[in-house]
Amino acid sequence: MMRHVQKRLLLVLKFSLAFAVIGYLLWVNRHLVMHTAKFFVDDIYRSCVYQRRNYELEEKSSPLYVTKERHGRLGNWLFGYSSLLGIAKANGYIPYFLRSHPLNNHFQLSKIRSYPAECLFDVYDEQPCSYTPEMMNLPTGNISIDGYIQSWKYFRFIENELRQELKVHPHMAQYAKKLFNEYVGHHVAAGRLVISIHVRRGDVLKPEARKLGFCHAPKEYFDNAMNYMLKLFPYSVFLVTSDDISWCRENIQPPVLRDVLSSAKLSKIKSDNPKIKSSIFDETVPIVFSKSHSSWDDFSLLMLCNHSILSVGTFGWWGAWFARGHVVYYDGFPLPGSKVDYETDKEDFFPSDWVALSVSASVQSWHLLWLVFLCAMWNALLFCKVS
Ligand SMILES: *[C@@H]1O[C@H](CO)[C@@H](O)[C@H](O)[C@H]1NC(C)=O
Ligand SMILES: *[C@@H]1O[C@H](CO)[C@@H](O)[C@H](O)[C@H]1NC(C)=O
Repeated sequence: MMRHVQKRLLLVLKFSLAFAVIGYLLWVNRHLVMHTAKFFVDDIYRSCVYQRRNYELEEKSSPLYVTKERHGRLGNWLFGYSSLLGIAKANGYIPYFLRSHPLNNHFQLSKIRSYPAECLFDVYDEQPCSYTPEMMNLPTGNISIDGYIQSWKYFRFIENELRQELKVHPHMAQYAKKLFNEYVGHHVAAGRLVISIHVRRGDVLKPEARKLGFCHAPKEYFDNAMNYMLKLFPYSVFLVTSDDISWCRENIQPPVLRDVLSSAKLSKIKSDNPKIKSSIFDETVPIVFSKSHSSWDDFSLLMLCNHSILSVGTFGWWGAWFARGHVVYYDGFPLPGSKVDYETDKEDFFPSDWVALSVSASVQSWHLLWLVFLCAMWNALLFCKVS
């Protein structure tokens, strides 16, 4: 009886193992499996495979197209369109977004088609925030890229062209200027530079987002970033946009200039700008919070600022790209060891002249001191053991 049960158990174990192995192999080769299945089941797909093969064999006279599946929101779409243009250029393909793509509602995109190209084959980008060199050398055929392709390296060599291409619809641009003026016009008139602070919280605070590796930037980071910016641009105003503006009102408080800068620096500012009253050095630096309920309005404000402080996400990233000033981003994202961390290569995601900051420099130097202390202890211990 006992042996019988044992035998059965073993059999079940063997079957489960076999299933697991087969399942794993199917998953790893899922794109190939899908391709093969489609080839046998779908007549149109099969004829496309032949069409592509003929194209490769024949003179390759007609152009090839490349497009991208729609994922995410505004920041993701801007990455998608921009990377697509770079990838198309590198491959000699014609890029397009469908006319129905929502990015058209804000920008006057010129690479547009009303219908998809024929015989699109999927190419997958498995690393949303990393540069995949294979994209610059796509297989032959009409291609639809599935994934996020979010790296500035895909479009660094077409930047000027891209800035010409990504033009906001004129009536929206006009409205944005009006809005910007309402918020900070009098500060700009007084000669202040406008430094944006974009604070993303909402969705990245959710436990499931945290599990993936998303996080939000803490108050101390914004303190640090504001001080950093004020050392470079002391005569400024901060303009805050966020999906959680009430948190910002409570937590983002600019410093008094006299606490940030040396008195030598302050007198230099005074002599460079004789019109400035010294009293402003003892007042907190002005800050303006967006009251807008539209994320597009907030985005248009970010585009018009002189310099940018980011938290996390692609929305602020693109606001800063359009603003073209100094950029500070939060170094604590993504959470180390997480899925998003694995999918992100910071060097590919953040342009090399953007500055990474985390919490305040003094907190950091405390950590460093601790490290030095621990190292010293460790060495002392080793030394004692040896001698
Ligand atoms: C690519 O798409 C265009 C436009 O639909 C089509 O004319 C062409 O035949 C397609 N090329 C291949 C190789 O499928
Ligand atoms: C700062 O931004 C404002 C608004 O976009 C612009 O008018 C101004 O020329 C900018 N200042 C500098 C120094 O770039």
